[in-house]
Amino acid sequence: MLPMSPVPLLSLLLLALQSVWSSTPQEPKVQGSPQPEISSLHHPTWSLGLQLYRSIRVDASKTNTIISPLLLANSLLALGGGANGSTVAQFHDLLRITKNEKADREALTRALKSVREANGSSYTLHSSSALFSKQAPALEKSFLETLQTHFGMQHVALEDAQKEPDMEKLQSWAKNGMDGEETAALEQALESKPGAMILANALRFKGFWDRGFHLESQDLRSFLGTKYTKVPMMHRSGVYRHYEDMENMVQVLELGLWEEKASMLLLLPFHVESLARLDRLLTLDQVEKWLGKLNSTSMALSLPRAKMSSAINLQVIV
Ligand SMILES: *[C@@H]1O[C@H](CO)[C@@H](O)[C@H](O)[C@H]1NC(C)=O
Ligand SMILES: *[C@@H]1O[C@H](CO)[C@@H](O)[C@H](O)[C@H]1NC(C)=O
Ligand SMILES: *[C@@H]1O[C@H](CO)[C@@H](O)[C@H](O)[C@H]1NC(C)=O
Repeated sequence: MLPMSPVPLLSLLLLALQSVWSSTPQEPKVQGSPQPEISSLHHPTWSLGLQLYRSIRVDASKTNTIISPLLLANSLLALGGGANGSTVAQFHDLLRITKNEKADREALTRALKSVREANGSSYTLHSSSALFSKQAPALEKSFLETLQTHFGMQHVALEDAQKEPDMEKLQSWAKNGMDGEETAALEQALESKPGAMILANALRFKGFWDRGFHLESQDLRSFLGTKYTKVPMMHRSGVYRHYEDMENMVQVLELGLWEEKASMLLLLPFHVESLARLDRLLTLDQVEKWLGKLNSTSMALSLPRAKMSSAINLQVIV
């Protein structure tokens, strides 16, 4: 069976979902900790990520939506450390922090560490996080130190005295952290009133396929997105984990990264359609079902060679 033979018209190729991050197996588990490892769908970053993804997609925006739940969870954890009263509970709810707070925190930190450690061998990753503040009351020194040392988060003051507008400052900060690569620009302006604190994360990820596509097996083909365009397509045949979900009319295909410790899931609808229906399918239960049903199948793949970027302003979502 060749469910994805290299036909010139690959109907809309969609949602890429980082999946199955696995922490390094040799690390000892925290004794008695109920916290699942990040490779498990029960890890809190999964529910956080899918919940956020669905909220972002509600307005059916045409842009790509790329988020790193892990980076976001880490930043929320960092900020939560400076919160008090009911705000603490809100952070804990989002991150599903239980009574075993210390173990939960450690599990998140450990997950981030393991992802950072594979940098260079399985993918290249650039990430920066910062807390920008605008004429905010002085922040406690010990809090800022914890941000820096535990979470690698800088603090940047946006002051009036500096001529550069806030948005430009954020943009150049992001670019610096990405090794000078251009970053996507925020479409909506940030509301940064005096006293505001802005949490910013920037991420650049380039995965190395476990089974790479060769430059010579690349050509220009017609591709149907919202209209026909010519795009560079790369081709490869091999055995991939795949599942054809007849009920939901979508093929699910897994491409391995990081020696199978991570992967990218591609959802390929049977027909050309907008993303709305697939966006709604993306629940934890559904993803779990799909992952459980993937089966090794020999197939020929044609994928557009793509670079995706997105800038998301969460201020307008919550
Ligand atoms: C946290 O809130 C409590 C009252 O809810 C207050 O007594 C305490 O001083 C606050 N702590 C900080 C660090 O602001
Ligand atoms: C990953 O490695 C690159 C160098 O190859 C480095 O520039 C970058 O800062 C590293 N990323 C992280 C998150 O440590
Ligand atoms: C994979 O395919 C084999 C043979 O068709 C079948 O026996 C097996 O149940 C399938 N596995 C899953 C997880 O569907």
